[in-house]
Amino acid sequence: MLANLARLPKDSILGLAALARADQRPNKIDLTVGVYLDENGVCPVMQAVRDAQAELVFEETSKVYLPPQGDVAFVAQMPKLVLGGSHPAVIEGRFSTIQTPGGCGALRIASEVLAVANPSAKVWLPNPTWPVHEPLLGSVGLEFARYAYYDDDTHSLDFERMMRDLQGVKSGDAVLLHGCCHNPCGADLNESQWQKVADLLLDRGAMPLIDIAYQGLGDDLEQDALGVRMLAKQLPEVLIAASCSKNFGLYRERTGATIFVTHTAEQADVALSQALGAARRLYSMPPAHGAIIAGKILSSPQLEMSWRNELQQMTQRMQTLREDLSAQLSTQTQRDFSFVAREKGMFSFLGLTVAQVHELRDEHAVYMLDSSRINVAGLTPERTERLARAIKHVL
Ligand SMILES: Cc1ncc(COP(=O)(O)O)c(C=O)c1O
Repeated sequence: MLANLARLPKDSILGLAALARADQRPNKIDLTVGVYLDENGVCPVMQAVRDAQAELVFEETSKVYLPPQGDVAFVAQMPKLVLGGSHPAVIEGRFSTIQTPGGCGALRIASEVLAVANPSAKVWLPNPTWPVHEPLLGSVGLEFARYAYYDDDTHSLDFERMMRDLQGVKSGDAVLLHGCCHNPCGADLNESQWQKVADLLLDRGAMPLIDIAYQGLGDDLEQDALGVRMLAKQLPEVLIAASCSKNFGLYRERTGATIFVTHTAEQADVALSQALGAARRLYSMPPAHGAIIAGKILSSPQLEMSWRNELQQMTQRMQTLREDLSAQLSTQTQRDFSFVAREKGMFSFLGLTVAQVHELRDEHAVYMLDSSRINVAGLTPERTERLARAIKHVL
């Protein structure tokens, strides 16, 4: 039977990263990967994670399964991190949380529950969006619609077209929104735009599905959650998929959570029962290591302070790199690259053609996705200068 299978093409991003790794040119610049890198090009283990991990190694006496809902401390702390401890939904107990294998698992569990709640729900995805959204949510059987998001010509969010497209949203649909640090474009909604989206969803009777995979990496943990908190205050139901991969640096530990905000505590509990059912069908119990570490950090004032400080330093580093790149590109090319400094998080499009991206790769050993998406964290001050000169060349 397996002989009948057709070979799937390799994942294009992972394939490109492998090509970059194999490049022997000493001055190569790899901006393809989707992980935070420090100034030495290392994806670091944060100090709070090291400390919590050391405690865990000392304390752990069993590898028995976690409860299906996840680590107790993690499940208690995550909603407070995402929504804030004084959020009305948290205070009134109108929410439930399930630990998931990463943000991917969180999105998948959210879509499984959504498909049970309304099998004919359409999921509205921004254009562009993270390429994994469609396969991850679509294999549940949900249909998609697209709404305009980023304008390549103006290098900014096209909010007018976004709202025009979202006029097509029907009651019972779900609208996927990036909580912050939009992947791949880095352009986020501001407070008044979030408000307009909240008004539209309320008017339509549609539910937001908020993917928040970069909380803390845009401005800070509170500011980055502004949109999700606002929607969870104003709408009766909100689905949230949170990841601890980037902000805790726990990538391989597969740590995330789906949070259901509902009209009543009873509905939150029913949604959780569906999420537990979906998890049982898919993988049964979640992995323990990362969630126990994140739960420990969020439950200990010292560890939490260490984590928050280090996260803020990472974010500051990326903001400085953005400002530097924006200035160097504008000077070298005499074009306006100020959008690079305005955008948030790890990713931005540089607005180059595929031919220019390939020339950068072939002639200058600079690797980015064909869409010209870069990971800002792959830069250092020296690389930024070289990148700006290479881009001047291909332009
Ligand atoms: C927008 C977005 N959502 C979700 C995820 C999933 O993250 P995880 O690695 O925690 O599954 C990612 C990871 O790159 C992402 O970029």
